[in-house]
Order: sequence, then structure tokens, then C-alpha cells
Amino acid sequence: MAREQWGSRVGFILAAVGSAVGLGNIWGFPYRAFSNGGGAFFIPYLFALLTAGIPIMILELSMGQKNQGAAPLTFAKLNRKWEWLGWMQTFISFVIAVYYVAIIGWAIAYSYFSFSQAWGEDTKGFLFGNYLGVTSSQFELGGLQLGVLVPLIIAWIVIYAALRGGVKKGIEFANKIFMPLLALFLVIIAIRGVTLPGASQGLNFLFKPDFSRIFDFNVWTAAYGQIFFSLSICFAIMITYSSYLPKKTDIVNNGFMVSLLNCSFSLLAGFAVFGVLGFMAQSQGVGVQDVAAGGVGLAFVVFPKAISMMPFAPGFFGFLFFTCLVFAGLSSAISINEAVLSGFMDKFSVSRKRAVNVYCVIAFVVSLLFATGAGLLILDVVDHFIMQIAIVFAGLIEVIMVAWFFNLDSIKDHINPMSEFKVGAWWDFMLKIVTPLVLGYMGVNQLISDLTTNYGEYTTSAIVVFGWLVVLGTLVLGLTMQFIGWKDEKLLSPNVLNSQS
Ligand code: ALA
Repeated sequence: MAREQWGSRVGFILAAVGSAVGLGNIWGFPYRAFSNGGGAFFIPYLFALLTAGIPIMILELSMGQKNQGAAPLTFAKLNRKWEWLGWMQTFISFVIAVYYVAIIGWAIAYSYFSFSQAWGEDTKGFLFGNYLGVTSSQFELGGLQLGVLVPLIIAWIVIYAALRGGVKKGIEFANKIFMPLLALFLVIIAIRGVTLPGASQGLNFLFKPDFSRIFDFNVWTAAYGQIFFSLSICFAIMITYSSYLPKKTDIVNNGFMVSLLNCSFSLLAGFAVFGVLGFMAQSQGVGVQDVAAGGVGLAFVVFPKAISMMPFAPGFFGFLFFTCLVFAGLSSAISINEAVLSGFMDKFSVSRKRAVNVYCVIAFVVSLLFATGAGLLILDVVDHFIMQIAIVFAGLIEVIMVAWFFNLDSIKDHINPMSEFKVGAWWDFMLKIVTPLVLGYMGVNQLISDLTTNYGEYTTSAIVVFGWLVVLGTLVLGLTMQFIGWKDEKLLSPNVLNSQS
């Protein structure tokens, strides 16, 4: 059966940008920039983008496009012994998929709460108590929270419909709706944000460089982590999406375009979020550093408070902000799930229809864990270990294997003739030297830090079960999948690039 394809180049770009622009851009980037030296963060951020982000993006797009397979098939075609890495990345995506959807569910609920500002005065108490019903430990599930379960189901229905519709009629179509709306809403919020009284104070905080931080290596690791997660690289997605590209495609141009558009969205989100935070700080007569928070806290505690304080149409702006999270989240979630689904469709040669039905039921059931009272606590640990350990090592192994043990020149020979801009020595240098060194340093440091201190001061059993075992699980399952045969061995035969080993 012929592989599905995108309907047009624009369709692919929209879907790839839709995958990249997600929760990581809207709440991750502004806060990371702020807490890592403000304007000075842009130096490591741009460095990470140019040395790792764009080179790996181009690498993954070319691997998927050339081999016409999701991550497991692509790695298996580069070298039969490498299939496990494709699966490890696929299982990483599966883990992200099941908790990411819960956050989209919260955002759906909060879009609705915005109209009446149902969170009241105590937004923190509302989130953790009334809404999430957070229990005292990861092992005390506390039952399903109806307010989380219902929007979770809504999010799954949208994801299911997009996946079921297929590459062109489902995924591309969904992104053609979500992405323009997301851009429009974000621009409106950014304009509103920067025109609120006190906004300049917030923006000043975000962009004022603190150059002393530039020598702090943690700032650099934060920048690399942000780039990886945000660009959706190293966890099977871009390989999968590019496998639906036609034979002739300007890979280099696409890679730059997707990466730069993603960063523009991050910047726009930075304006929007910090404009609003500056306003909030001024209204309360405190410093911006006293109101800023990261991740869950930023979106679901600080923002609701800021929305309630808005002088004009708070319900409307609240709704816009949370729908931005919903659209950005859904378009990313679709890609995360498609990466997993596509891996299994290749391996077992099952039809999309059957695969989607089975897959979505399994993923939905697992995601219910995050609709319980322990959901947030579990999510916090799983997310930390997946982002800081699993993705970093999956990325490190990928660049070392492909840049050192595979013929990079053959990839260049494949993409350069059809690309307007050619990749050359800089690309080799980044993939062979710079990225492995920085990623290796980052990964080892993070490993030591997580082995010596319990993340978030959680109990050791919670860290072992929801952190280490989950990471190890992606690796062990990945290795196991390599031993299972392919339903259609012909898929593995080359149109492949020559492997050196
Ligand atoms: N790239 C997606 C994000 O930033 C996963 O959230």
C-alpha cells in the first residue's frame, strides 16, 4: 500500500509547526527565558537553535523523508541493529501523549471557567483543591475527577478524529484550522498584553539581559532542553511527519522554516505572557519576579489571577488565552500520537482505521491516571524524567549513531540536490562535535543530579516508580520490539541510504 502523503507543502509546514508550537512555547519559553537571565537567555537559546535544533531538525526531516517510515522503520533501515532507538523514541512519545492530553483537558475546562472567572480570589486553592483535588502522594489516587475527565474525553475525541482522518484529511486539516486561529488569538493577547498599564515593566524583565548568568551552565542546559522539546525533535515526531513528504522536497528550507516559525511563536508568547504579568505586578504593587511562575503555576494559577484583574472583558481574554493553550496543545498532541501510531502501523502492517481504534482506547485508558487526584503529582515526576533524561539521552544516542556511525555525506547527497540552501561542513561539525559534547555534558550532569537528589522533594518510591522505571521502560520496551519480526519485511528493503557499519 502506498504511504500516505501531505496534500501540499503548506500543509506539511503547518502540521510541523503545529507539532512544534505547543505548551512548551506558551508557558515553557517565557518562564525559562525569565528565570535564566532574561535577555541574556537569548544567546544560549539562539546558540542551541543553530548548533543543535536546526541541524537535528534537518537530519530528522531527511531521514524520515528518504526512508518513508516512522522512527522505528527509519532507524531499522539505516541499520537493522538500530531499530530499538526508534522504538525508544516512540515510547517516549507515548508517555508524553498520555499526560500532555490531561493538560489540554485542564485548558479546555479553564476556557469555560474564564467566562465567570470561576476560580475566584484564591486561584491556587481552586486549582489544587476544588479542581484537581490533589491528594497527598502519587500512590493515593483519590478517584477520577469529573471536571478533568470530561474535558479529557473531549480532547481525545478531537485527537481521535484527526488521526482517524489520516495524514491529509485528518492531521493536515486539523492544523489548517488550529494554526491560523492560534496565531490570531496569540496576536490579540500580545497586543492586549503590551498595552496594559505596567506591561513595559514585565517586558523589561523578560528582555533585560543579565549577562552574569551567561557563564552559568544551567542556563545553557535550560536553553537546549527548551529547544529540543519545543521543536519536537528526538522523540520520533519529525521523522514520522517527514515520512509523508513526497520524493522531491526542499528539506533544508523546510527545516529552517519550521524551526524559525516555532521560535517566533515563542517570542510572541513571551510578549503576551510578560505584558500581562507586568500589568499584574503593577496592580498589586509588587515586582514582576514576585508574580512570575513556571509551567502549571503560570498558566493555571497566575494567569487566572491576572485575567480577573483585567479592566476590560476579562472573560473574553481569559477564553482566548486558554483556547490558545488548547489549540497549541491539540496540534502537538496529534503529532505525538501519530508518531506512536505510525510506528505500529509500519511494524504490523495494520490499516490506519484498526490501528487508531486500538491505539486510542489503550492511550485513553492509560491517560485516566492523570485524571485522578494524584494526576498532577504523577505528571510532575514523569514529565521531569522524560524531558530531562529520556529525551536528552535518546537525542544524544541518535546524533552519535547517525553522525559517527552512518555516512552523513550520503544524507547530504540526498538532500542538497533538491534544496535551495545546501548543508555543508557546518552541519557535520554541529552534529559530530558540538551537539554530542553539549548534550553529553547536559545529560551526565542531569543524571548525577537526579541520582543524588529526589526531584521536587518527592519520596524515593515515587521517583523510582514514576521516574526511573518509566525511563527504563521506554528503553526496555524499545529493545524488546527489535526482536519482534516485521509483518512485511519488504518495507525494510532499500530505497535506503548506505550504511557504513
Ligand atoms: N513541541 C511541543 C511543545 O512545545 C511538544 O509542547
